[in-house]
Amino acid sequence: MGSCGNQIAEEHLQQQKEYMEQIRALMAQRSEHPPAAFVDTYGCQQNEADSERIRGMLQQMGYHFITEEEKADLIVINTCAVRAHAEQRVLGNVGALTHTKRKNPNQIICLCGCMMQEAHMEEKIRKSFRHVDIVFGPHALWRFPELLHRKLTKGGRLFETAPSDGVIAEGLPVVRRDPPKAWVIIMQGCNNFCSYCIVPYVRGREHSRMPDQIVAEVEALVAQGYKDIMLLGQNVNSYGKDLALSIDFSELLRRLNRIEGDFILRFMTSHPKDASPRLFQTMAECEKIECHLHLPFQAGNNRVLKDMNRGYTKEAYLELIRQARQWVPDVVLTSDIIVGFPGETTEEFEDTLDVLRRVEFDALFTFIYSPREGTPAARKKDPMPKEEKQKNFQRLLDVQNEISARKHKAYIGKTVRVLVDGESGEEAYPLSARTKGGRLVHLAGDRDLVGTFAEAKITNASTWALFGTVEKRE
Ligand code: SAH
Ligand code: SF4
Ligand code: F3S
Repeated sequence: MGSCGNQIAEEHLQQQKEYMEQIRALMAQRSEHPPAAFVDTYGCQQNEADSERIRGMLQQMGYHFITEEEKADLIVINTCAVRAHAEQRVLGNVGALTHTKRKNPNQIICLCGCMMQEAHMEEKIRKSFRHVDIVFGPHALWRFPELLHRKLTKGGRLFETAPSDGVIAEGLPVVRRDPPKAWVIIMQGCNNFCSYCIVPYVRGREHSRMPDQIVAEVEALVAQGYKDIMLLGQNVNSYGKDLALSIDFSELLRRLNRIEGDFILRFMTSHPKDASPRLFQTMAECEKIECHLHLPFQAGNNRVLKDMNRGYTKEAYLELIRQARQWVPDVVLTSDIIVGFPGETTEEFEDTLDVLRRVEFDALFTFIYSPREGTPAARKKDPMPKEEKQKNFQRLLDVQNEISARKHKAYIGKTVRVLVDGESGEEAYPLSARTKGGRLVHLAGDRDLVGTFAEAKITNASTWALFGTVEKRE
């Protein structure tokens, strides 16, 4: 398919551009009103970034965007498969679309994203959700124009979900959110196969984008006024390993840090097995990299970690944290945790609490284990009753909330540099802002500060956020 490895060849991308032009002409012929599209996204920032490309392609095809499903000529739902809860929400909402389609039989309904790459889910849509017209997985995203063209000219239902090792498609059109925040995908897929996780099955293997392409994209974003650049990958620390170039993630960060302009570089997610002092040193030496490390540890017990196939021990994780703090003393630390992995006992769960107490994270993303069909963990015995998992989960929240509240309280009275990234809709604190470590600040100040850096005096704090007033504009 592609000319070089997993990179989609220019001529194939050119064909898609032609489909976009043809659809634009077709739509103009059919109606004098531009067609309306509704795009909804579930899941992680990777999916959000993909949806920006879906919007980009749709815009090229002449669509405009609306927020009501009923009035849409085209509905695109970009789905997530990471936990059952996300999937149930998608199925509920897609089920409800039978009503909008009954009112508007010409409405085209597309489902895409990770959930569609699961064979059993595709089967379910095929059989039980017959109002869905187009289904495609992440690997076929770049062929969306072709699929839509086929639907518009030939009709029928289309399923494009063949398994794939993953692809990189450069130069797709993109409609981004407004500055200052921008997402930049640096790599696709995952090689780690943590035993509970569906992502490697639906997103394919790790494929890094070429560094020159990433640098050019970030340069263009900075020139357009974006000031908060988030680099995305399932495991950014293994960036470059698949390229025939001598570049790793630290080197990429150093190249991006050299781009002129006042902006912040963030990245998600780092896997502990590939994080190293080299990365921490880079964070310490590059002034544009935010001093925040999201380093998911998932569980504190070594037997459980092994069963999860995470590739590190509790001791190795704690040592990494020590090194990170040595290089970047004020580093803000966050993590992901799973409670109730199959076979984890409450005694083993105590090790998770122990890591929490030792590290004192600034914030956590916590999940109760959700079995994913086809993963090794889903075949394991899972004897712990739901109530016990729920109880452990609550203990985890209680321990962390106390820590988060205490850490946030320590900011009161301090003046910190923030990037004002949006409006909050609250009267007392109309702005939302982020510290250099990524902590949320509800800010009192003028709306014209959005998109700029400012000095903020922190006056109050809660478990989840800081509150402050603008002391000085920059
Ligand atoms: N690549 C990232 C995580 C992507 S998924 C990393 O490795 O850190 C985001 C988080 O969802 C994971 O860190 C994990 O905590 C959680 N998660 C993934 N699969 C899950 C499952 N089956 N049940 C519950 N939580 C899960
Ligand atoms: Fe899933 Fe593990 Fe890959 Fe993260 S590193 S996406 S948790 S398999
Ligand atoms: Fe992201 Fe969900 Fe897919 S977390 S990679 S959208 S399964």
